[in-house]
Amino acid sequence: MKLEIFDNYEGLSLRAAKEIIGAIQRKPSAVFCLATGDSPKRTYELLTNEVTQSGVDFSKAHFIGLDEWVGIPPSNPGSCHYYLDTNVFRPLGISAARIHLFDALSKDLPNECQSMDETIRRLGGIDLMLVGIGMNGHVGFNEPGVSPNLYSHVIHLDEMTQNVGQKYFNGAVVLKQGITLGLKHFLETKLVLLVANGEKKAAIIKRSLEENISENLPATFIRKHANSKVFIDSAAASKLIKAR
Ligand code: F6R
Repeated sequence: MKLEIFDNYEGLSLRAAKEIIGAIQRKPSAVFCLATGDSPKRTYELLTNEVTQSGVDFSKAHFIGLDEWVGIPPSNPGSCHYYLDTNVFRPLGISAARIHLFDALSKDLPNECQSMDETIRRLGGIDLMLVGIGMNGHVGFNEPGVSPNLYSHVIHLDEMTQNVGQKYFNGAVVLKQGITLGLKHFLETKLVLLVANGEKKAAIIKRSLEENISENLPATFIRKHANSKVFIDSAAASKLIKAR
């Protein structure tokens, strides 16, 4: 794991956007898996600006969904689907055939998980995954206590995730379950980027980078990954023992 600390959110976002551009330049048919949420928002803006200006070509790339709120339709602005359409797929002009997201309305969620795993296998694995970190140390919806041996699965969302998740929605919603790629996908991905910013993330960043690697804190698995990079701003790094 490589840790890079930036003066501000803009700096880490620019760095993450450059990693994504580097990946598509090395491999035009790269398979990406991009988190939703507040942390990577600026990364996606900078990425689309750069793509518009320099004409980097994403037309051969594939995009895998990291996770989704079970029962929330794609038309809901708080859904991961809506977020990715708005912030990534439409701005980059990605065609529907290259987008592979969970159907969180499916009556057969185990089958959704199985077909997602098959899609990832068929595409030869994920080249670059960009994740955020939850206030409880989750990555994707891999909540504390999750087995690191799982591929896609449905999971009960812990209380913190149910509460914090309300920030994405226009009114109160019931968020009980998530459908998510597993830590096994995360560990098998060729390059994982984790981004975090702001003082609110300082305590969980400290725990994730300094405590023992454990399923009780899924983000600690970033240190087990063979090729991972953590980009954080100085506020998120402020509680680290050896920051700077
Ligand atoms: C979203 C996701 C979540 C978020 C995490 C941080 O697709 O997988 O794990 O990355 O909850 O969210 P923000 O960035 O909003 O703090």
